[in-house]
Amino acid sequence: MRFGWVALPLALAACVEKDEPTGSEDFASFCAACHGISGQGDGEAAAGLDRKPADLTGLSARNNGVFPGTRVMAKIWGYTGGHDGTSPMPQFGPLLQGDLVPYDGGDGIATPTPVRLVAIAEYLRTLQD
Ligand code: HEC
Repeated sequence: MRFGWVALPLALAACVEKDEPTGSEDFASFCAACHGISGQGDGEAAAGLDRKPADLTGLSARNNGVFPGTRVMAKIWGYTGGHDGTSPMPQFGPLLQGDLVPYDGGDGIATPTPVRLVAIAEYLRTLQD
């Protein structure tokens, strides 16, 4: 079964109605300490890390101008970088709970994805240079 983008705003609206945090609120709570509130990798905790937090405003620029939605969510989910022990990025349990919405990260295949994960990826999309 394939889902269109139409489903996404509806699902996000439903999420907001339930008073779940928005993508920007979740970013501030879970990401900004390292990546900075602007996403540029200059958070308060960045100085104490062995590896510099990525500049999240340049994700599209570093990917031939295409926002790498699936890779971003995989990173947050933890199954690409989080599990190999080399990244200081923690896993973000609360972001992975709650309703699932179909998300097409650009490859034409919609995968049921936790709504807060989608919301945070969509927020990051708005930060791109
Ligand atoms: C403890 C500090 C820390 C926190 C908290 C953190 N990150 Fe990171 N993040 C890093 C570091 C360091 C890197 C660079 C090393 C790596 O890729 O694992 C990184 C890399 C990334 C990348 C890969 C960028 C690329 O160019 O591939 C993404 C995407 C990302 N973080 C998103 C997030 C999001 C979204 C959150 C909040 C849900 C978050 N991070 C929270 C430290 C953190």
